[in-house]
Amino acid sequence: TLNKEDLKKALISLKKKKNAVILAHYYQEKDIQDVADYIGDSLGLAIEASKTDADIIVFAGVHFMAETAKLLNPTRKVVLPDLAAGCSLADSCPPDQFKAFIDAHPDHKVVTYVNCTAEVKALSDIVCTSSNAVDIINSFPIDQKIIFAPDKNLGKYLQKETGRDLVLWEGACIVHEAFSFDKLLKLKLEYPKAKVVAHPESEPHILEVADYVGSTSKMINYIKTSEADTFIVGTEAGILHELSKQAPGKNLIPLPIHEDNTCACSECAFMKVNTLEKVYNCLLHETPEVKIDPEIFDRAKAPIVKMIEFSN
Ligand code: 13P
Ligand code: SF4
Repeated sequence: TLNKEDLKKALISLKKKKNAVILAHYYQEKDIQDVADYIGDSLGLAIEASKTDADIIVFAGVHFMAETAKLLNPTRKVVLPDLAAGCSLADSCPPDQFKAFIDAHPDHKVVTYVNCTAEVKALSDIVCTSSNAVDIINSFPIDQKIIFAPDKNLGKYLQKETGRDLVLWEGACIVHEAFSFDKLLKLKLEYPKAKVVAHPESEPHILEVADYVGSTSKMINYIKTSEADTFIVGTEAGILHELSKQAPGKNLIPLPIHEDNTCACSECAFMKVNTLEKVYNCLLHETPEVKIDPEIFDRAKAPIVKMIEFSN
């Protein structure tokens, strides 16, 4: 077995040899981010996937993100380091139950957050990410009835921001629902000048006291361009690696979660299923491959393409 640095070198030369690209989300462990060709939020990764001319896309993220990349690149091979890299939010919206929910709400347009399965996307009119959700909801005529799924916290945030009365699916992300409000208030007392930055999957009481709410990329951008020097960061702790590069010198305090455990900050166990070694092996053996049921392919792709066209 190779040590980490040798593994990184081997991965970089294998990538060149196979004309592969590594796309990684900010929540991946830092060694994976270090070998990535592109690191981004869900929207950035989808746009990057739509532009790549690589033969193989190694998707260092979770399954729904790799599915999105495959839908945008039917002719290319998309591999995921571990098929067990799922998402609690995507799991909270089973397609058959969602279909019944849509049937019970005729005349509604269906807007789904990208954190859902390809089957759920196939039932949607348009997909959004936390980067463009407000603008996508606002693009509908004011009297248009809208279902928003699967994240109820992002849904409630969108209701507040757009003034629309959205019909919400009751899904949530276990990572962003674990933040402790008490600990946040204590930190605010301890660091009165700190800015609170939170991901919109967090619960409403967290978002209410946040100075800035946005996707992972938008949070990074806010922190690096802000005059403030201390930030309480309410999202998955993997983002701190990119922040330490893009916003060096800023004091970054990860927002603690309810339970006291060895890591007081939030980690997405699904994202952390991927390791550098698995990234190497999946490129070497070109497996496990992400495949989409041909029955739903076109219907799942259409709402993603609509979103990308909207965002460009
Ligand atoms: P972003 O699109 O903000 O990167 O969010 C992805 C995600 O899974 C948040 O939990
Ligand atoms: Fe899914 Fe939450 Fe993990 Fe994001 S942090 S991938 S929403 S479980």
